[in-house]
Amino acid sequence: EEMPMEVGGEQGRWEEERLKTASLSFGAKKERERGLKEERERYELILEEDEMINFVTSAVTMKGTMTEEQGENEGLSQAEQKKESIQEVRRSLPVFPFREDLLAAIQQHQILIIEGETGSGKTTQIPQYLIEAGYTKGGAKIGCTQPRRVAAMSVAARVAEEVGVKLGNEVGYSIRFEDCTSERTILKYMTDGMLLREFLTEPDLATYSVVIIDEAHERTLHTDILFGLIKDIARFRSDLKVLVASATLDTERFSCFFDDAPVFRIPGRRFPVDIFYTKAPEADYLEACVVSVLQIHVTQPTGDVLVFLTGQEEIEACCELLQERCRRLGSKISELLVLPIYANLPSDMQAKIFNPTPPGARKVVVATNIAETSLTIDGIIYVIDPGFCKQKSYNARTGMESLIVTPCSRASANQRAGRAGRVAAGKCFRLYTAWAFKHEMEESTVPEIQRTNLGNVVLLLKSLGINDLIHFDFMDPPPHETLVLALEQLYALGALNHLGELTKCSEEVLTIAAMLSVNNSIFYRPKDKVVHADNARMNFVVPGGDHLVLLNVYTQWVESGYSTQWCYENFIQFRSMKRARDVRDQLEGLMERIEVEVVSSPEDSTPIRKAVTAGYFYHTARLSKGGYKTVKHQQTVYVHPNSSLFDEQPRWLIYHELVFTTKEFMRQVIEIDSSWLLEVAPHYYKNKELEDSSSKKMPRKQGKSKEELG
Ligand code: CDP
Ligand code: MG
Repeated sequence: EEMPMEVGGEQGRWEEERLKTASLSFGAKKERERGLKEERERYELILEEDEMINFVTSAVTMKGTMTEEQGENEGLSQAEQKKESIQEVRRSLPVFPFREDLLAAIQQHQILIIEGETGSGKTTQIPQYLIEAGYTKGGAKIGCTQPRRVAAMSVAARVAEEVGVKLGNEVGYSIRFEDCTSERTILKYMTDGMLLREFLTEPDLATYSVVIIDEAHERTLHTDILFGLIKDIARFRSDLKVLVASATLDTERFSCFFDDAPVFRIPGRRFPVDIFYTKAPEADYLEACVVSVLQIHVTQPTGDVLVFLTGQEEIEACCELLQERCRRLGSKISELLVLPIYANLPSDMQAKIFNPTPPGARKVVVATNIAETSLTIDGIIYVIDPGFCKQKSYNARTGMESLIVTPCSRASANQRAGRAGRVAAGKCFRLYTAWAFKHEMEESTVPEIQRTNLGNVVLLLKSLGINDLIHFDFMDPPPHETLVLALEQLYALGALNHLGELTKCSEEVLTIAAMLSVNNSIFYRPKDKVVHADNARMNFVVPGGDHLVLLNVYTQWVESGYSTQWCYENFIQFRSMKRARDVRDQLEGLMERIEVEVVSSPEDSTPIRKAVTAGYFYHTARLSKGGYKTVKHQQTVYVHPNSSLFDEQPRWLIYHELVFTTKEFMRQVIEIDSSWLLEVAPHYYKNKELEDSSSKKMPRKQGKSKEELG
């Protein structure tokens, strides 16, 4: 039964709690001296009533098994006691009492599923126990996969510190374009994608004694593929230990998939979390987050806040808004430290979220769902959950893959709430109604393999010699249609490998491929310099399309000597360019390995555009009334307003990707000649499909008018 509460009642409740803990909640001395009445006035001054979020409590209190008292982290920051206190912290983690049992179970079984509450020490402790128990004697390695780059890096750094070694020596990490390991490395944290790549050079993972597939419940595409591959090699590598670690979700399914492997459960230590819902749906969840943070800050006792948003843009906007509001409030409120965390954040900034909060201040971490289970930040008491996440979705019929903001699952929402109850009793503020939670959210997240383009995966599995993909041992097989489409596209591409054009312009195509891979983050457009930024961008425009614009940007950057200053002056994101350069180097390395000559044809863009056509011929769109239509599926699509071809509207286009925002937009488009399609993909296109229906009605001359004008 829910207990709806009026604002006043809710305020009253919060007030009562504040009375009890007033001395804790406002660290600064002068704040403490203020009376309650004054405090209430201050509160109303800060948050006018109409902008307050009205929460109702639900009768639900999440409660886990509470087995121990808190108090583990005292004295952690004293430098001289650091070593001892690290060991103390290690001993205080929920996994510690099970060290011996766990090692015995690993000894006894080849494959073990490990289930444990987030923050119980699975990722950081179990590999250390294995090292201590001798699993790396003789130079064998322990590998531990993470679905996210940030998690791999940050966990490796933490463990290196605990072990007392320099990161990259005995303990290291490996993520794409960044290998922080050495010959001495015996414990390697890596993204699941990197372990997949290792199968290419070491199909039996011979140098590993233990492989830990961590965060298995996330069910990322790469993790799902790893399941199948590792299950297979475990059959003939009886000495290999396989651990599948997961938050408290779905472990029976893992056990079932791995031939009834036993499940080792680490009892949780979780404090109760009170859950609050909004009375009515929130129209603007970003604003609601900001208001809720401030509301917590001025009314709630000490404790840090964790806010879940869907991506970098939202997180930056939220942090900006919070900082601005705090600036305006000045000394009326105690210090609020606002810290973002998302995948592309520079690592020194990432590390900041783990710094202890200074006394009297409050920390707000604004995170993507990376903080849901992969990272544990100590000291979080309050969680704000708008209930959304960014999810890849794929439509096999149209070939469209898009990232969309969707409601998260109930399982996710509960994980998020759980983050509030790790160190003490906590509160979770859900910015949606209890009704929405029950009726509008899915039970659990659909595995990525079910909603993604399988092209790359099929390619990878084929290169591992796995040809029969229809019968590959998937935990949840992808939709048949998606698999067939991926095969069809790759078959078509494969047929093109014999065409000379592909290799003749590889210099430029390498650059374009690298630039496309950094995903629309080349141009920088700060809010206060929109006009300058757009002018700078216009200066890079060349005829033919966006791919050629990207090529132009890269070429000029090379000419500048890869200059940071040049990027700054031209509103180009230096970090993205650096990444494009890394990708390009890697691709060039691959070309060398398969002995494709890298040559250049700078004068004429035709071979470049033909090569793009050869690679993306199934992404063709044709001009039609009011927009474009994709050739195979007759789906209506539009040129993205940021495109260099937005005003030109050429008759035939190849698009790099479709994104759905307000409409279905084609991003990164290039102009082509429809006759090339028959040339590069004769088995995919029929002459009839490529007949220009409009040119039949119009005199031929008119159809060419654009070129004549130009
Ligand atoms: O993997 P699991 O969620 O079970 O826990 P973990 O990541 O091994 O975290 C165990 C402890 O290490 C937690 O108290 C974290 O706060 C701490 N930790 C940390 O302080 N800094 C990191 N970079 C990673 C973990
Ligand atoms: Mg973990």
